[in-house]
Amino acid sequence: MAEELISPQVRDYLDRLVPPRPAEMQAMEAYARETNFPIIGPASGYFCYQIARMLGAKRVFELGSGYGYSTAWFARAVQENGGGTVHHVVWSDDLSQKARKHLGALGFGDIVQYRVSEAVQALRETAGPFDIIFNDIDKHGYPDSLPVIAEKLRSGGALIIDNMLWHGGIFDESDHSPDKEGVVKFTQMITTDPGWIATLVPIRDGLIVAYKK
Ligand SMILES: C[S@@+](CC[C@H](N)C(=O)[O-])C[C@H]1O[C@@H](n2cnc3c(N)ncnc32)[C@H](O)[C@@H]1O
Repeated sequence: MAEELISPQVRDYLDRLVPPRPAEMQAMEAYARETNFPIIGPASGYFCYQIARMLGAKRVFELGSGYGYSTAWFARAVQENGGGTVHHVVWSDDLSQKARKHLGALGFGDIVQYRVSEAVQALRETAGPFDIIFNDIDKHGYPDSLPVIAEKLRSGGALIIDNMLWHGGIFDESDHSPDKEGVVKFTQMITTDPGWIATLVPIRDGLIVAYKK
């Protein structure tokens, strides 16, 4: 995989602009550093929280939630927006249990709904519409997730999807891995579909934020 595209200096600067987090979230960040677990991190998390506040989101669906770090940002926004539901979906029971512990400690027990499942299938089976759908599953699954997301997101809602720079892999013509191809194909699909207004924002590993017309 290619080197990080965003310099550590810029990345750390953006992370330092994020206001202090509660001790429980700091512990989640420390765990990711220690174990190399791929969470979205403070700058992308805060940006997700900002978008959710700006939209007044009350119904959020996450695909590929890990141990709940990105969920915590959405749950905080939903709580501040007056309450609602954030769906936490991951296919590992262990991660789902860890998320319950962290998110309960953060006071989001009544907001987050947990499901251990393949995430696109869970979205298919869950009644929408949603104000925000956040996608962070294995990258080869991105293209097939788009029709399901388009069906479940409300008009005027936002899709946020992570790792769209794929650590620079998008520029590596010798990389034909399914994950790289998934990122490239998804980017092409969403930026050429007239049903969406989509921008790739180069925070950390690149977030596409797409507004559904
Ligand atoms: C990148 S990590 C998630 C990090 C989380 N969004 C955060 O920022 O805190 C993705 C997680 O989703 C799981 N996952 C990947 N593809 C999935 C799928 N199709 N369905 C359910 N879980 C999936 C992975 O095993 C991993 O635990």
